[in-house]
Amino acid sequence: MQDYREYLDEILVSEDALKQRISELGQEISRDYQDQDLHLVCILKGGVLFLTDLIREISVPNTIDFMAVSSYGAARKSTGQVRISMDLVEGIHDRNVVLVEDIVDSGYTIASVLEFLETRHPKSLRVCTLLDKPERREVQVPIHYRGFVIPNKFVFGYGLDLDEKYRDLPFIGVPDLGKLPESSEASKG
Ligand code: IMP
Ligand code: MG
Repeated sequence: MQDYREYLDEILVSEDALKQRISELGQEISRDYQDQDLHLVCILKGGVLFLTDLIREISVPNTIDFMAVSSYGAARKSTGQVRISMDLVEGIHDRNVVLVEDIVDSGYTIASVLEFLETRHPKSLRVCTLLDKPERREVQVPIHYRGFVIPNKFVFGYGLDLDEKYRDLPFIGVPDLGKLPESSEASKG
């Protein structure tokens, strides 16, 4: 397997910047959910590094659960068709839910997940995304907590994959797409 450095064009968000911003988001969420229950729902797989760092910066009691979503179509673009591939373990009726996602791009994924979860009547439902790519938005979605607004570039690392690899990198990087083999696999979030 090739080293990621062969593909890396630039580091868009450094490890220090991630740490600093996630700490701020944790404080903000802690203030908002003081004396209330807080249930964090992580969207797999991309949101998992963000979730585990975020909960360590949250100072109010909280619970976590996971769900997975798949989008159909080519790996590096969203088609608008989204399927729930793994449901939550716990119920969310009457709970304060915060969705924890890696990136909001076209908005289709979050829009579908919100619609799906609303049918279970949570007490409240908010979105917390590490990255926001507003230039690519095709469907408007409410975002309550946002780590970084980024330009219209494909990114990888810190949970986000490049053809399922490099989720473990501690920073958000931009690959040189010209150096990548053409991808055929569907994106698995
Ligand atoms: P959306 O449905 O277009 O908003 O796309 C959201 C999902 O597509 C994210 O949860 C990611 O899994 C994936 N995605 C979007 N942009 C990127 C990117 O730049 N790098 C890696 N994955 C991405
Ligand atoms: Mg994702």
